[in-house]
Amino acid sequence: MKNTILTLLFMPILLLASPDGYEVYKKNCSNCHVESISKNEFVKNISKMKAPPMIEVANQIKTHIVIKGDDEDVHRKVVILFIKNYIENPNLEYSLCNPPAIERFGVMPSQKGKLLEAEKEAVAEWIYDRYEGLKFK
Ligand code: HEC
Repeated sequence: MKNTILTLLFMPILLLASPDGYEVYKKNCSNCHVESISKNEFVKNISKMKAPPMIEVANQIKTHIVIKGDDEDVHRKVVILFIKNYIENPNLEYSLCNPPAIERFGVMPSQKGKLLEAEKEAVAEWIYDRYEGLKFK
């Protein structure tokens, strides 16, 4: 009984401490980055698009960042760090986006101050894992 009460008491705190990456994406990123779409559909609907789809963002960053020796854990870590940094410090110089996409959409506006550290971590991990093995085509 005591344990149940304690669990109930602390559950909201635990939930708050580890935000859900997909929820963070829906709230903060989905307005500009559609989650998943084929290249064909994307091109057809380009006039409604504000940014590259998240599947393409994930593909671009994962293929551009190469770790010597192909260590997967290090690769995941570095990609996540890149994404977390990009949320607050988008920059033409460091964008790994295709030049035509940047020309079309411009550089991403900084989302500084909108996400907690844990939310940035959660959404970056979600982006890495969500599109594992999936290609924008
Ligand atoms: C107001 C629109 C907008 C919002 C909101 C937005 N982005 Fe972006 N984002 C863009 C645009 C436009 C680009 C492409 C140009 C560039 O690379 O800066 C981009 C690019 C990126 C890139 C770099 C892609 C690359 O290949 O280098 C990442 C990473 C990214 N966004 C992540 C996010 C995440 C995560 C969120 C939510 C926390 C988010 N964005 C919210 C517009 C947005």
